[in-house]
Amino acid sequence: MVVHGAQWGDEGKGKIVDLLTEKAALIVRFHGGNNAGHTLVVNGEKTILHLIPSGILHGGKRCAIGAGVVLDPQVFLAEVDQLAAKGVDMSPARLAVSLRTHVIMPYHRLLDAAREEAKAGGKIGTTGRGIGPCYEDKASRVGVRAGDFLDEALLTAKIRHALAEKNALLTDLYGLAPLSVDQVLKELLPLGRRVAAYLADVPGLIGQAKADGANILFEGAQGTHLDIDHGTYPFVTSSCCLAGNAASGSGCSIRDIHEVVSVVKAYTTRVGSGPFPTELTCAAGEHLQRTGAEFGATTGRKRRCGWLDMALVREAVRLNGTTGLAITKLDVLGGLPELKICTAYRYEESDILYPPQREGALGAVTPVYETMPGWREDISSCRSFDALPEAAKRYLNRVEELAGAPIAIISVGPGREETLCKKNS
Ligand code: IMP
Repeated sequence: MVVHGAQWGDEGKGKIVDLLTEKAALIVRFHGGNNAGHTLVVNGEKTILHLIPSGILHGGKRCAIGAGVVLDPQVFLAEVDQLAAKGVDMSPARLAVSLRTHVIMPYHRLLDAAREEAKAGGKIGTTGRGIGPCYEDKASRVGVRAGDFLDEALLTAKIRHALAEKNALLTDLYGLAPLSVDQVLKELLPLGRRVAAYLADVPGLIGQAKADGANILFEGAQGTHLDIDHGTYPFVTSSCCLAGNAASGSGCSIRDIHEVVSVVKAYTTRVGSGPFPTELTCAAGEHLQRTGAEFGATTGRKRRCGWLDMALVREAVRLNGTTGLAITKLDVLGGLPELKICTAYRYEESDILYPPQREGALGAVTPVYETMPGWREDISSCRSFDALPEAAKRYLNRVEELAGAPIAIISVGPGREETLCKKNS
């Protein structure tokens, strides 16, 4: 099963992964890095994870970081230590890192920040974590991989080769100080020694889990519309965020994926720059931002908020092959007198059901809205679909209709227990 985001990230995937982990023995992250931020609330205690799969909070489950992820060793180890301090078993028997996972190097972080700084207009608003530069090195075939921590000579040669080019960029283009090989090695080697304990053959682990008849959960990060190919380019991240990448990003066959759970927030949010047709700058937007505590879990930035955009969700269903929707933060809509859903876009004098394909065209659409009544009740204690107010049921039924995919899970609060299932007859 794949759990992935259907919007621009921050849909609440962490909670859904945490819930569905009950059914799985192995949980695998397959793309992205510590640009992600998954907030989990278990027994009232909040944990924010950026890199380690959310499934780690379930005792007895095994987690893995696949080849498609980019790993910042410092962040990875800080998370290991943070979880261990909370009493979570963080032994290598529970957590594996693929030898093929690319490593975010100090020069990647510097270049990410310097590039954004240098862009006068048109900033992407990256998380500044070095994600893009790391994926660039991967594609240029000069990247450092986690397995290189086992071979100091290879690691040193790769760093020397990389710095010849990176230092020219850092000094000549961005006016920063150069990095020396020794400086980078000094920072990296102690981290690498600790990461080495977690290195494993992740495709082999997946193969073994399959042979044992165990369920595997593939945990996506970011969201469909931040995808490097099918997102709102260039305002996207640098990895493939689609469910299809669960196979190649972790190392198995597409035939091993039978279910696709697309996580949809009951409204829309976006951090960073880029077009956002249903963005609200009025009181309703403030309500969503405040009630939904819409601040980025990674950067702390205020998230832009708007009405639910079903053209985006419909596109996500098409791109990912959704078998079930998980609707999150439905409770946040409570208290708004009326709700709008974007059912289509007006674009070049016609109504279209999917985002237009040309670059920048999403910035030129006008949302076509349907208005529905809101509800006043606090729904966070509802534990069945039938217990929801009529207006909430109507909203969800309409979402299902417009998405063309069934709703499987509805979340009405951050806690594990604040969840209900929608059974479709
Ligand atoms: P990068 O992934 O740091 O290169 O950032 C590229 C764009 O993706 C920026 O607009 C970020 O705000 C956005 N982004 C990256 N990761 C996430 C995420 O996990 N949630 C929401 N937005 C993200």
